[in-house]
Amino acid sequence: MLENKEIVELGVGTGETIVELLKYHDFAGKINGYEIDRASYEYARKVIVDNSVADRYMVINENFFAAVRNAVVGGCVISNPPYLPAYERPAQMPELWGGADGSQVTKKIVECGFEHLILLVSSLSNPLSIIEHAVSHGYKVLDFTVRTMRFGIYSSEPRVCERIAQLSSQCEAFVSADRYCVAGVAWVKHPDAIDLSSSLARALTSLASCPEAAQAQTVMPREAAGERDRCANA
Ligand SMILES: C[S@@+](CC[C@H](N)C(=O)[O-])C[C@H]1O[C@@H](n2cnc3c(N)ncnc32)[C@H](O)[C@@H]1O
Repeated sequence: MLENKEIVELGVGTGETIVELLKYHDFAGKINGYEIDRASYEYARKVIVDNSVADRYMVINENFFAAVRNAVVGGCVISNPPYLPAYERPAQMPELWGGADGSQVTKKIVECGFEHLILLVSSLSNPLSIIEHAVSHGYKVLDFTVRTMRFGIYSSEPRVCERIAQLSSQCEAFVSADRYCVAGVAWVKHPDAIDLSSSLARALTSLASCPEAAQAQTVMPREAAGERDRCANA
C-alpha cells in the first residue's frame, strides 16, 4: 500500500529500527528521514551506510516541520515522536520532550495534512486528546497494535514523573504502578475507512484502574456508534 507513496520520517534517532525493517523485509519504497539532532544524524548516517540501505533510507539533518511543508499531499509520515510530558524542556533529553502534556509534536504532525500517518502514541501523553485531534482533522484509525512498557530512565526523571502523576490524576495519562502503553497506529484520511478510534482509546486507557478512566473511554461516541452499527450488520 505504501510502496508508491512518498514516505517521510520525523526523528530518525539511531536509525536502527527502520534499518532492521529494510534489511529483513522486501520493502521497495524510499524513506526520507529527518533528524534535528546532529549527533544522532551522524550516528544514523553511519548505521544506514554500514547496512547497505542508503539507496532506500535517506537521512537529512533538518527540522522536519521546516523541510516537509510543501511535500505532504498524498504522502505518508512515520514517526516515534518525542512524547515525554514536562512543563519545561528537560535538560538531559531535550529531543524527547513532547510539550506540557507530551502530545504537542504528535498534534503538529497531524496538522501537516498527510494522507497516511503511522505514529507511536503513548498512554502517558494525553492520548485521548491526540485521537480527538486526528478525528477533527479527518483521520480514521485503520489499525493499531498496543503493548505495555516499563517506565524507563527518561520517564522516571523527576520532572517528567511528577507531570505524569498530575496528568494521571486528570485522566490525561493512563498508567499502572510501573507501566504505560505504547500503540503503533495507522491513520488514513479516507471517508470510507472503518474507524477504530474508540477501540484505540480503550486500549490506550486500559492500564488505568480509576473509574474516571472508564468515563474517558466513552469520549468518542460518534466512532463508537459506527462500530456498533457495523456489528449489528455482521
Ligand atoms: C523518540 S526519538 C525516536 C527515534 C527513533 N525513530 C526510534 O524510534 O528509536 C525522537 C527523535 O526525533 C528527533 N526530533 C525531534 N523533533 C524533531 C524535528 N522537529 N525534526 C526532526 N527530528 C526531530 C529527536 O532528535 C529524536 O531523535
